[in-house]
Amino acid sequence: MMDKYLGSTDETEIKTLTERREELEDIGQNCSINPTMGDIINRRFSRRSFLGGSLAVAAISTTVSPLALLTAEEARANGASQFDFKEIEAGVDETHHVAEGYDADILLRWGDKIFLDSPEFDPLKQTAEAQSRQFGYNNDYVGFIPLDDNADHGLLVVNHEYTNAEIMFPNFARVEKVMEDGKEEEKVVLGDYTKDLVDIEMAAHGGTVIEIRKVDGKWQPVLDGKYNRRITANTEMQISGPAAGHERMKTPSDPTGMKVFGTINNCAGGVTAWGTYLMAEENFNGYFGGELAENHAEYQQLKRLGAPGGQYAWSKFYDRFDVSKEPNEANRFGWIVEVDPFDPTSVPKKRTAVGRFKHEGCESIVNKDGRVVLYSGDDERYDYVYKFVTKGTYNPNDRAVNMDLLDEGTLYVAKFDEDGTVTWMPLIHGQGPLTSENGFASQADVLINTRLAADALGATKMDRPEDVQPNPKTGKVYVMLTNNTKRKEEEADAANPRPNNAFGHIIEITETDGDFASTTSRWDILLKCGDPSIAEVGASFSTATTKNGWFGMPDNCAIDADGRLWVSTDGNSEEQTGRTDGVWAVDTEGEARGTSKLFFRVPVGAEMCGPTFNPTSDTFFLAVQHPGDAGLATYEQPATRWPDFRDDMPVRPAVVAVTKQGGGKIGYGESF
Ligand code: FEO
Ligand code: CA
Ligand code: CA
Repeated sequence: MMDKYLGSTDETEIKTLTERREELEDIGQNCSINPTMGDIINRRFSRRSFLGGSLAVAAISTTVSPLALLTAEEARANGASQFDFKEIEAGVDETHHVAEGYDADILLRWGDKIFLDSPEFDPLKQTAEAQSRQFGYNNDYVGFIPLDDNADHGLLVVNHEYTNAEIMFPNFARVEKVMEDGKEEEKVVLGDYTKDLVDIEMAAHGGTVIEIRKVDGKWQPVLDGKYNRRITANTEMQISGPAAGHERMKTPSDPTGMKVFGTINNCAGGVTAWGTYLMAEENFNGYFGGELAENHAEYQQLKRLGAPGGQYAWSKFYDRFDVSKEPNEANRFGWIVEVDPFDPTSVPKKRTAVGRFKHEGCESIVNKDGRVVLYSGDDERYDYVYKFVTKGTYNPNDRAVNMDLLDEGTLYVAKFDEDGTVTWMPLIHGQGPLTSENGFASQADVLINTRLAADALGATKMDRPEDVQPNPKTGKVYVMLTNNTKRKEEEADAANPRPNNAFGHIIEITETDGDFASTTSRWDILLKCGDPSIAEVGASFSTATTKNGWFGMPDNCAIDADGRLWVSTDGNSEEQTGRTDGVWAVDTEGEARGTSKLFFRVPVGAEMCGPTFNPTSDTFFLAVQHPGDAGLATYEQPATRWPDFRDDMPVRPAVVAVTKQGGGKIGYGESF
């Protein structure tokens, strides 16, 4: 079975819906393919039968290292890890698993009430109105903002990244046998979208702000919490910063270029030191349909972003999502949205100074000089790592003065040199190639066309940058690079050293003298991921890592109260790695550096998102996204019915609160 995990790009492999979705979104760098919506929907749900796919990888002689045979206890004896918990077994089944001695309680599921008067979830009678008062779909980023300095009481902020219509809506998708390339193939085929279904999807996107409290050791939502709020794809937002009001931000319904409705594809995000919630807009291109003439002024930059991607039917019912009708609407997405969760009537702001691309997330830190530094990865093959440094400084005593800090500052893109230097190159209008002659007439143009500006500066093309997380304890920054199976031998570079990088890697940046605003830093590779027992994979986990402890496809991560790194993944499966996604504890310091241990794993088909700790690190909030999205899943036949396991309830994405039985910090032994 070992030779399954080499990371073949063989097209006959089974791909989960999410993998196919990512492939189709992944057309920004090379947009020569512009499939129609029909093509996309067909291809998106095309899958081989389970058996056919898993046998597709050719047998290659492999070297199995003895470490694959070690138990967790034996392995731990080889090096002093910062973590102390009993590792769980990697594998695939219908439910979640957490390390012994911990509870993993379901806190909020898709459809759960957010307000006292929210309607009860009725999956057979879904409406947009009900959904807009209930917890949204596909929870991704999770942030915790304490109330009254209390680690047991706070606001949970949660992104709802996207919707899986085929497992959300009853009687909508079906499995059909079709002939493709001379072979019979089974596919999930969607029914016809109605405006009502699109409206439910729009209401299931966005985010949730909800008060939560620990009562008798267990977390629960506070449904009469005065800050509770749903944000959707229709919530009114303000455009702020250098691109606000620019001609290219104006649309027929908004001649000011200052007001936009909604936020979409909110992947990861962040929480600022002043208690605001940052929502990163990632694959927004997929929601736009229609066609734009090649000579249209916006054609090139939209093509660079893969827009219009046509993965949703929204443009059929709403002109603003049709680029042939309102081409500037797409310029109003791809930003970082800042929400003040302490005022449920506040208008969220799209902070254009932080750039426009497929933001995976936006984690921030207050630098030693008081400026605030935001890190953000652009999740596409061959795209870039960015940081933004505010002009002004954070004032811990006056929240109001921090509220518009993100409107002024400098956006930088990273160049990773072979000698271990990171050069942060500023994206400033008038500097270097970012001039009018090259199509950048103002800072607004630089920001709306962030990818093109970064191309012009010669930034390093990375293997899909995901979460980028500063560690306040060590002055280091962790960059998750999830994979890039398209990278060719001749394209390998020091920072992206593996061609056909199926399993991804993690880069560690060390900011000079702990100065996160520094324009030169050092970089190193913390981990090359994948099965370390297969020499050809070239993984670099420490030898103390067990057969359960390695992972592929790092995606999000969290730093706990003691500065320890926890990594969550997206893309592990029976076929890819013989395991589901999960969260792994990864040592970064001393002899144990590069040792990884499995702490929690998700049910079949799910991705692990949102890892975040409360301030005392005695609760670990985890988001189980798109559970059941494996094989030929439909509403009627999902791959699991997690977390309710009721025949009359669909599979539901949910946020899980992990606590230690008897209390104490996560990831330590008895004495903590
Ligand atoms: Fe939404 Fe890059 O994952
Ligand atoms: Ca992600
Ligand atoms: Ca994170």
